[in-house]
Amino acid sequence: MATSSSNSKPGRDKVVLAYSGGLDTSVDIRWLQDNYNVDVVAISVDVGQPETDGEEIVARALRNGAIRADFFDVRKEFVEEYVWPLVKANGLYQDVYPLSTAIARPLMAKTLVKIAHEEGAKYIAHGCTGKGNDQVRFDAGIAAQDPSIKIIAPQREWVCSRDEEIDYAAENGVEIKAKKDSPYSRDENLWGASCECGAIENAWAEPPAGAWIHTVAPEEAPDTPTVIELEFEKGVPVALNGEKMDGVSLINKLNEIAGANGVGRIDHVEDRLVGIKSRETYECPAAVVIIAAHKAIEAMTLQREVLDFKKDIEKKFCRMVYDGQWFGGLREPINAFIDKTQEFVAGTVRMKLYKGSCTVIGRKSPYSLYDTGLATYSKDTEDTFDHKAAMGFIYVWGLPDSTAAKAHGKK
Ligand code: ARG
Repeated sequence: MATSSSNSKPGRDKVVLAYSGGLDTSVDIRWLQDNYNVDVVAISVDVGQPETDGEEIVARALRNGAIRADFFDVRKEFVEEYVWPLVKANGLYQDVYPLSTAIARPLMAKTLVKIAHEEGAKYIAHGCTGKGNDQVRFDAGIAAQDPSIKIIAPQREWVCSRDEEIDYAAENGVEIKAKKDSPYSRDENLWGASCECGAIENAWAEPPAGAWIHTVAPEEAPDTPTVIELEFEKGVPVALNGEKMDGVSLINKLNEIAGANGVGRIDHVEDRLVGIKSRETYECPAAVVIIAAHKAIEAMTLQREVLDFKKDIEKKFCRMVYDGQWFGGLREPINAFIDKTQEFVAGTVRMKLYKGSCTVIGRKSPYSLYDTGLATYSKDTEDTFDHKAAMGFIYVWGLPDSTAAKAHGKK
């Protein structure tokens, strides 16, 4: 924790600001002081976004007038309590987006509320705009934990352009991080990166090469495939290529390997909760591979009834994550159901990564429901299936329909 008493003014209320260190939230420190007459506590969390120099972010927040600035490494909790439940749910919003931005928001909201309580703060502020989903996730997430906290979203009240913000920073002596001007709005963490705005807004145009920063273009990926093995226990990956590792390391490593093979690029027109359709691109190499592998091991270890029923529940869970209902009454019961289905979801999946594609080429499980003896058509394998029993089964199975056919006079 870093504090600067010189920035504090007696008698002021406090606001806890979700501070990323970027332009918006740097300017927000000053804007909050001027417009709400508050002391600002700037809080950043490390959810695995690249280039996080916590010390530098904290120091800059203090130089910009925060009374306290902190940077918390929450990566382990992020993976174990938020990303893994998504994996167990094969979490893809609209069957496409691995929910990488959405899943980090509840943990951020939780951290902000914790600090607000610690500081006795009246307000929480965030840098979300009025057109996106993230404002919903923060506002609803905070209200569900402590409805007495008031929320301020400067970018929602003070709708201004990037250039105007830069001017405001210059006029008010706000130090901003010198950064190459990017036409895109990005959000990044270890589960994936989101990109919107700029040339991407033209839904017909192919995303420019510069939109992609975490993956190699499939056409430039190696000419020989990379084969990997991913081992699961209770529905979550525990080892990569035979090496046991913690979740954070496994995801980082897989992002590297899959990204180098051009795997994980997603181009999608998605439905925002606020009613807008938006074209976004995502780079989620590890997420794409892990979800494909998880589906493959589930296909081998879960019964058809469970797979079918779970699909509906997964969809509901993904909607809840997307729509900011993590702290709502249904989320925990849904997770309890999904957890129960994962008891025997264990084994190893072998996959081929090649020029943007990720293909399952083998799977095995100590709890496999795939029984070669039952499945075989080969003369070399002992057939354990009772062929004669099929006739009786089909007679009974078809009985309602054959009875109806007789009654309706069908020949
Ligand atoms: N559309 C995605 C979501 O709502 C990603 C939003 C990412 N935000 C950004 N500033 N690029 O989860």
